[in-house]
Amino acid sequence: MSNPKTRISTPLQYHQSELYLEDVKLASLLKRVGSPAYIYSATEMEKRYRQFDHAFSRVPHQVCYAVKANSNLEILRLFRRLGGGFDIVSGGELFRALEAGANPATIVFSGVGKTIEEIDRGLARRIRQFNVESVQELQLIEARALAQNRRQIVSLRVNPDVDPKTHPYIATGLREHKFGIDIREVAEIFRAGRAFKKVRLEGIGFHIGSQILDVKPFVDAACILADSVKQLRRAGFRLTTLDLGGGLGIPYQMQPAPTPRDLANGILPILAPLGCELVFEPGRWLVAAAGVLATSVLFTKRNGKKNFVVVDAGMNDLLRPSLYQAYHEILPTRWKSRATRIRVDVVGPICETGDFFARDRVLQAVEAGDTLVLRDAGAYGFSLASQYNSHPRCVEVMVRGRKAFTIRKRETYEDLVRGEGMRKA
Ligand code: LLP
Repeated sequence: MSNPKTRISTPLQYHQSELYLEDVKLASLLKRVGSPAYIYSATEMEKRYRQFDHAFSRVPHQVCYAVKANSNLEILRLFRRLGGGFDIVSGGELFRALEAGANPATIVFSGVGKTIEEIDRGLARRIRQFNVESVQELQLIEARALAQNRRQIVSLRVNPDVDPKTHPYIATGLREHKFGIDIREVAEIFRAGRAFKKVRLEGIGFHIGSQILDVKPFVDAACILADSVKQLRRAGFRLTTLDLGGGLGIPYQMQPAPTPRDLANGILPILAPLGCELVFEPGRWLVAAAGVLATSVLFTKRNGKKNFVVVDAGMNDLLRPSLYQAYHEILPTRWKSRATRIRVDVVGPICETGDFFARDRVLQAVEAGDTLVLRDAGAYGFSLASQYNSHPRCVEVMVRGRKAFTIRKRETYEDLVRGEGMRKA
């Protein structure tokens, strides 16, 4: 197993063999809040927001946190207080952002399938911009804006046809994907847009995928975008914003990973001369490394040649390993330097063979009652959680220094059946 001492990085650290998130001892916290639990470091999120924001400080820009990565209200409030805007993809995320006190002028509404109701809400709240993904969507926004008699700024999400070299389920910028508008059709759409009375096409942008660990695809996409901007300007169109999406990856397995500064060094030489305001939509990079999923060992068992560690969290709590074969490092909350190491599958209680967190992983030997954490679980952890097998969704906790706050209560059995029962349809 990887010796945690070789990978000491804030905010998760061992002190005298006990694992801490900031200054909170995780084993003790878990006793208080129950298991399993998502636990996040507020300080780490703030540090990361500032680092991201600072990397682009030499150009006009707005960081719009991608709400889908982790949509807890307290996390949205944290980013709002730092000056963050929000990238939303549904009416529900719009509701959350506004509940968190977001200024609508900092909200960008992305997504390939917005409903009339969602468009109406976005228009009514006067959000900054819609990132439009099809001609039909653009026409619908114009029609609804006319109906509401409101002006609306719109940016086209183009599909630059670049390969971000990430898991196929989270790559989005290839022509074969459902996302964005073919870059070759953009000029034509801007021409058609001249007839619009309420919609003003003022920007273009891309989001090429997620968990991208190389700057090159961003640079390639930025070049394509810059060419497109120049062409559009030659044709007489005004462009004021460029949306660069999200996608910056993190080193789940200690692999080399670019920083926001690396991203800035790659794309700003191409984009800054265009004089547009840049919008960024980072999700994972801001929150993944700030969070862990803590879980307790229920049983250990052996089937044939394999050792299993059965824990109380499952794929319903953290879907990433099952859905994307994602790797999350697993650390014991108490480090025993002399404990034997064994090769195990760490699995959950869900009745699915796909319910695993790690396969053939060498870990410190554990026994029932021990606690483990899955690290880098702050992004697409709770937000992808479900009640499958009727497990109430677990508690979410935020720590800051020595303090810990519950930011979402553990669900109850009553929560599981809320709204169920026969009523006339
Ligand atoms: N903007 C748009 C339009 C997006 O679709 C996404 C993510 C983001 C921004 C934020 O991307 P990020 O900076 O977090 O990479 N569930 C998957 C990731 C799905 C990403 C979906 N879109 C996972 O757990 O890896």
